[in-house]
Amino acid sequence: MELALTDLTSLSFASKTAAGDGVAVVFAEEGPKLSPAAQDLDKKTKGILTKAVQITTFKGKKGTTVDVLAPQGVKFSRIVLVGLGKPASFGHEDWLNLGGTVRGQLTGQEGAAAHVYLETASGDVAPADVSAFALGAQLRGYTFEKYKSKTPKKNGNGAGDKALKKLVVHCGDPRAAGQAFAPDRAIVDGVHLARDLVNEPANVLGPAEFAARTKTLTKAGVQVEVLSEAALKKLGMGSLLAVGQGSERPSHVVVMQWKGAGPKGGAPIAIVGKGVTFDTGGISLKPAGGMEDMKGDMAGAACVVGLMQALAERKAKVNVVGVIGLTENMPGGNATRPGDVVTAMSGTTIEVLNTDAEGRMVLADCLWYAQEKFKPKAVINLATLTGAVMVALGKEHAGLFSNNDELSERLTAAGKETGEQLWRLPLGPKYDKMIESKVADIKNTGGKWGGSISAAQFLQRFVKEGTPWAHLDIAGTAMSSVDSDINRSWGSGFGVRLLDRLIKDHYERR
Ligand code: BES
Ligand code: MN
Ligand code: ZN
Repeated sequence: MELALTDLTSLSFASKTAAGDGVAVVFAEEGPKLSPAAQDLDKKTKGILTKAVQITTFKGKKGTTVDVLAPQGVKFSRIVLVGLGKPASFGHEDWLNLGGTVRGQLTGQEGAAAHVYLETASGDVAPADVSAFALGAQLRGYTFEKYKSKTPKKNGNGAGDKALKKLVVHCGDPRAAGQAFAPDRAIVDGVHLARDLVNEPANVLGPAEFAARTKTLTKAGVQVEVLSEAALKKLGMGSLLAVGQGSERPSHVVVMQWKGAGPKGGAPIAIVGKGVTFDTGGISLKPAGGMEDMKGDMAGAACVVGLMQALAERKAKVNVVGVIGLTENMPGGNATRPGDVVTAMSGTTIEVLNTDAEGRMVLADCLWYAQEKFKPKAVINLATLTGAVMVALGKEHAGLFSNNDELSERLTAAGKETGEQLWRLPLGPKYDKMIESKVADIKNTGGKWGGSISAAQFLQRFVKEGTPWAHLDIAGTAMSSVDSDINRSWGSGFGVRLLDRLIKDHYERR
């Protein structure tokens, strides 16, 4: 079983003067001040853009657009004039979002091709920024339509035959832009892989199917090992197995290794993901309203898979191991009961007070296994762990918990650079007290207040002294996503770009 990466609009780079057909996209800075390419088109069309600006409120503000259909004097069927605002102050995220905004304008109704003449009023855009633009455009082009029986499935937007098939980005140095885009293309594939996994319904994507899909990573050079339920029993993963025991579908753990830095690269970074393919709450059953969202409770694991794909595809010079715990939390005759006591791989005993606090139990064994087996130089885990993190931070920041200030600051910085933002929340001995149990070493819930923090304290019980560790609670950012410039699908793929950036900035050999 293998996963076809989402069928995308083909993307290429060309010189800023090369001709085109279909849709033309040109730019203006605030004023509006037309870019050279826009001025050129204006001339060829006897001033149609000047006229369009005069009769509309368009001032070149960032993200605003003016449309001209069927212009005379050029081969284009449509010209879109896009406002840049003040591009002198643009960072990576601005170019990324601009690419998304432009891609959102290209519904494909006017022809199969679009030509973007990416220029500011004063001239060329740097290759890295052109690449960020292209990355944003490709991310926005993602759709999840495999279960639409009536819409043609090819090439997004539900536009069928009229879907955009070709996107050409014209710029000052197309060769340099193409080179800059090579790693970004890998990120596109990684994010789309993560989104595909998150969007997939749980009847199709159970633990075994998810595990099978990770095999697609081997093509890029990742070593993939799937541990069966029998193997997990042997390892003593009583905490993870307790979550899945009410389900007909057996649990799995998948271990993915990318050795891009080779043996001299030393110990790997471990990335651990929660992969609950559906979370009913178990015997502590969730209410019906919104339960369907729990098909996305494997978004942490999906991010790990997407990240491994991106790192391998761009041949990142780093050693990374991904460990994901795949299981389904169901009620059933054999399900774990509230009050049960189970033993984790580390030997720690856990009193299960609420079977809906299952993510931490999955991660407990995955975290321990990753440290025992790989002695990593740092561990980062991602999980849709608590509803409480959404109460605290909404859907704009993921919660960050860490035992290490440097790692925490690096992650926060990577979040700012990519727009996948993090906000650090506290840990401490007084919070740790909240998970003390009367009958076992710890209990799996910490009471009414600070639910995201007590969940993080639980995880920290499975982090070895001296291992830099960070936990990202992505319940608010990975699924049921707010529409953004670069994503309109339910799953966002949150974390792939963030961790790719962290690794690039701090852990890759140069
Ligand atoms: N998967 C949920 C958290 C979640 C909720 C993610 C909503 C995304 C959207 C997690 O397993 C859970 O049920 N957490 C409980 C913990 C509680 C029982 C201590 C929660 O947050 O209510
Ligand atoms: Mn739960
Ligand atoms: Zn859950």
